[in-house]
This record gives sequence, C-alpha cells and structure tokens, in this order.
Amino acid sequence: MKLIREPDELQALALSFRASGKTIALVPTMGNLHAGHASLMDIARPQADILIVSDFVNPTQFGPNEDFDAYPRTLEADMALAEAHGVDILFAPAASSIYKADASTFVKENSCSQGLCGRSRPVHFQGVCTVVNLLFNLAVPHLAVFGQKDAQQVAVLKRMVRDLHIPVKLLVAPIVRESDGLALSSRNQYLTAEERAAAPQIHVALQALSAAVSAGERVPAKLEKLFKETLSAASDLFEPQYLEFVDRETMAPLEKVVPAGTLVATAVYMKKTRTRLIDNILL
Ligand code: PAJ
Repeated sequence: MKLIREPDELQALALSFRASGKTIALVPTMGNLHAGHASLMDIARPQADILIVSDFVNPTQFGPNEDFDAYPRTLEADMALAEAHGVDILFAPAASSIYKADASTFVKENSCSQGLCGRSRPVHFQGVCTVVNLLFNLAVPHLAVFGQKDAQQVAVLKRMVRDLHIPVKLLVAPIVRESDGLALSSRNQYLTAEERAAAPQIHVALQALSAAVSAGERVPAKLEKLFKETLSAASDLFEPQYLEFVDRETMAPLEKVVPAGTLVATAVYMKKTRTRLIDNILL
C-alpha cells in the first residue's frame, strides 16, 4: 500500500491508471477507521483494479462550534487497517494542500441537504459536496462507496452526481453495528461509560417504532412519541434533536408513513458529553 500526501501526486497516478485501462474505486473517509469503514473497502475491493481510500478530516464540513479539533486522528492505525483490507493507496493530505488559503469555490446542493442534519448544520453538506467533488477530481474513480449510516449524505451526493453529470457510480453499504446494536461511529469514543451503555437504545427505539409501523401505525407524531418514550424509559441521558420520516431519495418529510421505503432518521444528543449520535432505519 502506498501512502500519498500530495493531491497532485494522487491525481497524476490515478490518471495514469486510467490511461492504462485500469478501473478505480474510491472510499472517502475522515480516518479513525473502524469496521464500518472496512465494510466499504470490502465492497469496493472486488469492483475495481485500484482501491483508493482517502483519510482526511475535512474542515469545511464542520461548523464553528463542532468537533473539528477534537476529531480523532489515527493515521498509523488507519494505515494498518487499510492495508489489511487490500487498499492500494491511502490518501492523507494536509488541509493546506487541499484548500488554498483563498479558496472561493464550493459545491452546494439545495434540496436534499436542507432538512434533518442540514437544519442544525448549515455548512455541513456544502463542505461534504465540495470535498467529495474535489476527491473525485483527484482520484478520478469509476465508482465510490458510501455508508447508509449517513443516509442524508448518500441522498445529497446522489443528487449532486446526477445534477452535475459526474461520471462516478455510487454504491451504498449497509450500517455496521456493534453487537449491542449501536451504529459504529468515530464519535462513539467521546461517550462516557454510562452514555456508551445507554446508546444502543437509540437503535432499540427505532426498532420499536418499526414494529409499530408493521402493526399498522402510520402517524408520524404517534411514532415519534413512542420513540421518545422508549428512550426516556431507558435512560435520562438522551436528548433527541430530531426524528423524521422522509422519502429515502429526496429527504422530503412524509405526512403519512409508507411501510416500504420510508427512511426514519434521528439525531440524539447524549447529555453528559453533548455527543451527537445519528442513526436511521429504512422501513
Ligand atoms: P466518515 O464519517 O469517516 O465516514 C466515511 C464513510 O464511512 C461514510 O460513507 C460513512 O457513511 C461510512 N460509515 C461510517 N460509519 C459507518 C457504519 N457504522 N456503517 C457503515 N458505514 C459507515 O462520512 C464522512 O466520513 C465524510 O462526510 C466524507 C464522506 C469522508 C467527506 O468528508
């Protein structure tokens, strides 16, 4: 596996692979790699000749009061994990080589990005679209893999690829969970032991809601009540930020839950550390 730091070097190499007829898969990450990221690599690996993983904590997708500085950076361990999953190139650039000090061009999606996480994180998806576009230009991949864990990110990026006619195929990987149901996330390590013990209840509450839909409940407000009650009965550490029932493609809110195809997405703060956990379930 080759570690590349410089954008120009990655682009030159990727273009040379293309010129020699090789196919390229890209898995964009912010590093601190875990089994969720590894699952994306395992999906990508057999699909292309060259597998590139980017490892870059992207400053433009963090708001001013978010965890950019605290975000775990673990390049040594990331290299070992990537190598073990057959990655050919790990691209870990410095922020200063990705964004010039006077960078003034950004990519903004204006529909799918507006609700859910976009409401409380107004610059987030613009940062994601910009960096993913930029990574596509550097790695020139034929395909890229993203996780359903970030369902809104998937919807926004699919829309961006469609609208801008970007010649990249997007693949979506299922959510990887701990054995107790908690969705794997780099942010889980911010949790206190007590918060970590309670956190799987988010998935439990989503499943309870899904069971209620199977039993015939269709009204979002009633399902939201059930979700909140399940959480508060389990622990007083939860502070739900949103629970929404949306169309899986457009992220548009649904007035009535459709049993097949509704995405139920939530963000929940853990009160002690103010860690914000997201999770979702597709009905
Ligand atoms: P990051 O949070 O590092 O996630 C990188 C990729 O791994 C994303 O596609 C995410 O959905 C996926 N992923 C994370 N946890 C997962 C889990 N438990 N199961 C399955 N997939 C999981 O998402 C980002 O980085 C950034 O926004 C990025 C796209 C790299 C742009 O900076």
